[in-house]
Amino acid sequence: MSVFVLDHPLARHKLGLMRDAAVGHREMRALAAELSAMLAHEATRDLPVGRTTVKGWAGPLEVPRVDEAAVTVVPILRAGLGMLSGVLGLLPGARVGVVGLQRDEHTLQAQAYCSKLGERLDGQVALVIDPMLATAGTAIATIDMVKARGCTRIKTLFLVAAPEGLERLRQAHPEIAVHVAAIDERLNGAGYILPGLGDAGDRIFG
Ligand code: PRP
Repeated sequence: MSVFVLDHPLARHKLGLMRDAAVGHREMRALAAELSAMLAHEATRDLPVGRTTVKGWAGPLEVPRVDEAAVTVVPILRAGLGMLSGVLGLLPGARVGVVGLQRDEHTLQAQAYCSKLGERLDGQVALVIDPMLATAGTAIATIDMVKARGCTRIKTLFLVAAPEGLERLRQAHPEIAVHVAAIDERLNGAGYILPGLGDAGDRIFG
């Protein structure tokens, strides 16, 4: 599994702002979108670029063209929705498939309650987005669902990841790519990332 950490002063700055517990949902939402756009910028670096001919001002012209509809963005409800506008800002023609999973607070097991991924994802690049990778149960279950629809090129975008979650994800899905703004210290006994962001869904949606 390849892991890319966003190495940029603005990414560190924005994540630092999000770690301030005094920051409210309005600013959290804006920061989540801004960081997500930066992550998407990196995660789409290897998208295939085709060519097409347009009518240039001085005659026919061959120009580069990315097939945006060959990308499916998969926000994991609910917190993943907070990253969607940033990713779509960069890829407005991408498809969107939504999954809903929630962690049981006691067992930490991820339970799926919604799946609107579209029939088949063969040939698509999937960008799975969620602010947090904690135990990785949610991400592993989501990637299982994406793979079950025939997708073979899967990238995941997280704002913050725990080392324990990255290791579990590596064991479950070794061929995927992971893009994160930061790898934090560890999980606490309740499955929360330290220092982390707290409950990302609550903080982004208010
Ligand atoms: C959070 C987070 C991830 C998940 C990470 O969602 O947004 O989806 O927990 O935990 P894991 O890696 O241990 O599975 P939560 O269950 O709080 O749901 P929400 O987005 O609806 O708030």
